[in-house]
Amino acid sequence: MTFARIAGTGSYLPDNIVTNRDLEQRVDTSDQWIRERTGIEQRHIAPAGQTTVDLAEQAALRAIEAAGIKSTDIDLIVFATTTPDKVFPSCACILQARLGIQGSPAFDIQAVCSGFVYALATAEKFIRTGTSKKALVIGAEVFSRILNWEDRTTCVLFGDGAGAVVLEASEETGVLSTHLHADGRYEELLHVPCGVANDFDAVKAGKAFVEMKGNEVFKMAVNTLGRIVDETLSANQMEKSDIDWLVPHQANLRIIKATAKKLDMAMDQVVVTVNRHGNTSAASIPLALDEAVRDGRIQRNQVVLLEAFGGGFTWGSALLRY
Ligand code: COA
Repeated sequence: MTFARIAGTGSYLPDNIVTNRDLEQRVDTSDQWIRERTGIEQRHIAPAGQTTVDLAEQAALRAIEAAGIKSTDIDLIVFATTTPDKVFPSCACILQARLGIQGSPAFDIQAVCSGFVYALATAEKFIRTGTSKKALVIGAEVFSRILNWEDRTTCVLFGDGAGAVVLEASEETGVLSTHLHADGRYEELLHVPCGVANDFDAVKAGKAFVEMKGNEVFKMAVNTLGRIVDETLSANQMEKSDIDWLVPHQANLRIIKATAKKLDMAMDQVVVTVNRHGNTSAASIPLALDEAVRDGRIQRNQVVLLEAFGGGFTWGSALLRY
C-alpha cells in the first residue's frame, strides 16, 4: 500500500510588519479591540510588486531543501490561492517554470481559507493512486490586495504569506484521512462580490474587496469545525487523546480555542500563529505547520490534525502521522 507522507515543509513571510498600532492610524480601531476579539497583534504585508508566486517560490525552495530532494524530482504541483498573480496561467504553472520543472501537472485550487486542506487532499489522491511520487503542495496569498484598507471590519484581520509541503509516496503511513466539504448557499456571508465575469469594472477600478458578515461567519465556523473534528476522529476510530497536535486555520484565536476545547486539548498542543500572522487564508496552515516542525514541537510519527473553514463556505480536515 502506498501512502502520502510529508517529506519537508517550508514557509515565507514578507519582511514588512504592520502592527495594530499602525492600523490605529488608518481606521477607527484600537490595539485592544483587535487583540481581544481576534488575538491578532500584527501581520506581514507584501510590498507593491511582490506577488503570490514570489512568496510561494521562497516557501517551495525551503520545503524542497527540507525534503532533501531536487526541484526536478517534483512531479505534481497543487497550488491553493485566492489571490493569483494572473487571471491565467495558474500560479502553479508560473511557479513550475521558476523551479525549472517541465511536463508534470500543475494547477491551482480555489477554496479560500480551506485551500491548503483541499490541495493536500487532492495531491494525496494523486500519490495514493500511483500517479505522482513527489508533490509540491502550496498555500500562498497576498490577501492584502483584496482588502479595503478603510473598512475596519475586515482590514485588521488578514495578512500575506506562503507555506509549502513536499508530499511523497511512502510505505510508511503519512496522511491518514482527508475530509472536504462545501455549501455554496452561504456565498454572500464572506466574498469579494466582483470578478472577471461579473462587474469587471470594479476589479479594474481596484475595488475588488473582501466583504464579510463576521459575526455570522464566526458562529458557522465554530459549529462546523466542531463537527469536522468528530467526523475525522470517527473515520479513523481514534479518540481525542490520540491527537498530539492541532494545526488549525488561523482566523481568530477565539475560534481556535473553541476547537481545542472540543478536542479537550490544552493550548500548548495547538500551533498558534494568528497573533503574529493574522489570517493568511490558504497560507495559514502550512505556515503554522512549518513553524512547529522547524522549532521541534512536531516530531516524526506524531498524530497531527489540520482543519480549516473559509469562504464558499468550504471546510475540511486532514489527519496525518507526521
Ligand atoms: N475596531 C473596532 N471596532 C470594530 C472593528 C474594529 N476593527 N470591527 C468591528 N468593530 C465594531 C463593530 O462595528 C461593532 O460595533 P457596534 O456594536 O457599535 O455595531 C462591534 O465592533 C462588534 O462587531 P461584531 O462584528 O459583532 O464583533 P465580533 O465580536 O463578531 O468580532 C470578528 C468581529 C470579525 C473579529 C469576528 O466576528 C470574527 O472573527 N469572525 C469570523 C471571521 C473569520 O473567521 N473569517 C474568515 C473565515 S476564514
